[in-house]
Amino acid sequence: MLEGKRILIGITGGIAAYKAAEVVSRLRKLRAEVHVIMTESAARFISPVTLQSLSGNPVHLDLYAEPRFGTVEHIALADLAEALIIAPATANCLAKIAVGLADDFLSTIVLATKAPLWVAPAMNHVMYHNPVTQENLVRLRERCVRIIGPAAGFQACGTEGDGRMSEPEVIVDEVVRYFTRPALLKGKNAIVTAGGTQEPIDPVRYLTNRSSGRMGYAIAEALQEAGAETILVSAPTALSAPPGVERVPVTTALEMYAAVMERFPDADIVIKAAAVADYRPATAADHKIKKDGTDSNLTLELVPNPDILAELGRKKKPGQVLVGFAAETEHLIQHATEKMRRKKVDMFVANDVTKPGAGFGSPTNIVSFLFPDGRRVDLPQLTKLEVARRLVLEIEAMLGLEVKE
Ligand SMILES: Cc1cc2nc3c(=O)[nH]c(=O)nc-3n(C[C@H](O)[C@H](O)[C@H](O)COP(=O)(O)O)c2cc1C
Repeated sequence: MLEGKRILIGITGGIAAYKAAEVVSRLRKLRAEVHVIMTESAARFISPVTLQSLSGNPVHLDLYAEPRFGTVEHIALADLAEALIIAPATANCLAKIAVGLADDFLSTIVLATKAPLWVAPAMNHVMYHNPVTQENLVRLRERCVRIIGPAAGFQACGTEGDGRMSEPEVIVDEVVRYFTRPALLKGKNAIVTAGGTQEPIDPVRYLTNRSSGRMGYAIAEALQEAGAETILVSAPTALSAPPGVERVPVTTALEMYAAVMERFPDADIVIKAAAVADYRPATAADHKIKKDGTDSNLTLELVPNPDILAELGRKKKPGQVLVGFAAETEHLIQHATEKMRRKKVDMFVANDVTKPGAGFGSPTNIVSFLFPDGRRVDLPQLTKLEVARRLVLEIEAMLGLEVKE
């Protein structure tokens, strides 16, 4: 299944390092070309000789060792990689790659490669829940690093909790899925909008909302994985565009409107995941608005922004798929269903942003897919990327592109 795929396995110094041998062995059985990179600590937990035998290639440990592979070995390896998987990934390793340290072979490769990166965290559950580790994971997710697990259960230190490395078959399945997913949307053009627009009041202040952009970015990633030429029209966020996705930065609702309308005629799929301000200040002051020295109120006049989704619904040609999002805080399904009918979209993704594990800023989401024929699919709590992949499957089905068994 992975015939000839060049996969780098990074192993760091945790008790789960022994499980990396199984990951390497499984990848080899699937005919991947595997190159192992170990940290110095990892080599205290499992012998490089084991990994060398299982991978069929020399193990890389020392940045300054005599190169066997190109003149600058870490760059040559980084260039040839089609995937990099760090399993197990220690708390230390996650921290290093979150801030971009490059002080050993593995962390240098992480910076030098353009290949997709997966990490399988493994550590004591207190280390895992330490706010610093959690912050590092958030940073990594924002940079499109794919995080596998961790799983919960018995830990080698004698406690129970989450922090166990995901099982080797789970890790290998993720990679197989990445390489073997049929590119059903190849030849299709997709536009995704993401983030919360900013509506200027004066040169230093603006009106905005709590959208982090994560859901839209995950959708762009899933569409790109499925082969679509994907454009991400993004309001300001802290996120990087997934590899292969074209990002069109915008700030205001009017700019987003113009960017989407310009590209809509060529689009096969449009997914409006952005939180677009319904209103903007009627005028934006040229200079910072100052206190007038009295205690009187300041009134801002707001005017409505164009309703991008409704306009797309009106302009939509047969064959174009239009998906809207409804972030609600009450009467979710009722409000979303009404919106869907009004705006003539093919599907609505409804999420109650007040639920724990859903909505703004959360790495996970809990959504329902609603269709104009009354069909409704309630998904469990999933990572935003998993929600995005399910959404892409629905779009493929709407376009009649399902995989035939
Ligand atoms: C017996 C033992 C077990 C350890 N297990 C883990 C672990 O499971 N996860 C982890 O993050 N660190 C673990 N550590 C700590 C790491 O080995 C340590 O942070 C080291 O600096 C990691 O280096 P590396 O990230 O370069 O491999 C363990 C240390 C020892 C001595």
